[in-house]
Amino acid sequence: MRAGFVGWRGMVGSVLMQRMREENDFAVITEPVFFTTSNVGGKGPDIGRDVPALKDAKNIAELKAMDVIVTCQGGDYTSEVYPQLRAAGWKGYWIDAASTLRMADDAVIILDPVNRKVIDDALTRGVKDYVGGNCTVSLMLMALGGLFQNDQVEWVSSMTYQAASGAGAQNMRELLSGMGAVNAEVRDLLANPASAILDIDRKVSDFLRSEEFPCQNFGVPLAGSLIPWIDKDLGNGQSKEEWKGGVETNKILGRSANPVPVDGLCVRIGAMRCHSQALTIKLKNDIPLSEIEDMLAAANPWAKVVPNTREASMKDLTPAAVTGTLVTPVGRLRKMAMGGDYLSAFTVGDQLLWGAAEPLRRMLRILIE
Ligand code: HSE
Repeated sequence: MRAGFVGWRGMVGSVLMQRMREENDFAVITEPVFFTTSNVGGKGPDIGRDVPALKDAKNIAELKAMDVIVTCQGGDYTSEVYPQLRAAGWKGYWIDAASTLRMADDAVIILDPVNRKVIDDALTRGVKDYVGGNCTVSLMLMALGGLFQNDQVEWVSSMTYQAASGAGAQNMRELLSGMGAVNAEVRDLLANPASAILDIDRKVSDFLRSEEFPCQNFGVPLAGSLIPWIDKDLGNGQSKEEWKGGVETNKILGRSANPVPVDGLCVRIGAMRCHSQALTIKLKNDIPLSEIEDMLAAANPWAKVVPNTREASMKDLTPAAVTGTLVTPVGRLRKMAMGGDYLSAFTVGDQLLWGAAEPLRRMLRILIE
């Protein structure tokens, strides 16, 4: 197996490399080859064994020599290189983190703890393109997989609280710069216990609305605020991120022909790399809560049910608790005032792990098995 890696130095690519080292994935790849768009001939990453010098990620002949290509280079790269590679007759497996090919008929969205059967069927049919899903969708399905697997969901409304990392590394930096700048603006007043909180608040508000506030990447302040729109405006009142919730969920589950409606509002908040979601789930049946908890916990090893208590929710169901881990806890589970077939839930997940890198490395493992 000759596996080529493109975009391994960026944020998602670096998380992928870290996870592959942790899981010893490179030991089972006969020939890992690293590509670059900027440093041809340079030294490859440290993966515990010798690797050839970096190859040109735009060189179709070099790429064609790979059995599988894993790319975290982004959508522009996929749009440019993938068609050329296929046109040149390449028959290898393309594993991609970008959304470009996600909804193509001959591409599968990979999230194997949820849709291993869809993946296996596609492999049998000779499908060659495997694409990681939208992070919010993947994290919701990791947490709620049990209800979908048991076909208990009539519809889902998802209200998201999405971290800065989903917008990119520069946006994470901007969030922190904003937090620091707000603090600096009122540092003297804060240091004085006798200062009036409304004076502090007025200074902060003026600063958030001023030209000085650092918000080049997001366009408006995120620190001390939020942004109730993510990705493009589809022109029908829905954001592209909200649209993805419905179409990608059903594609992952292999039920695009018989879709479960999924819709909601996607909101950017000042977390670093964990997306959270508050869900209203219309169940097909009024199932007892204990059965729901059992279904969710049994679905996969990462969906951890958090008891619906104040203490457990505050301790285990937050970005601060979950960041950097593979668990996708789900809690705040209760039947709602609307009736016994209305379930409320809250889930948190690391957007760079299950939301991006993890499904890619697992797909590579599936190909090697
Ligand atoms: N679109 C997501 C976000 C990123 O902006 O948070 C990952 O799919």
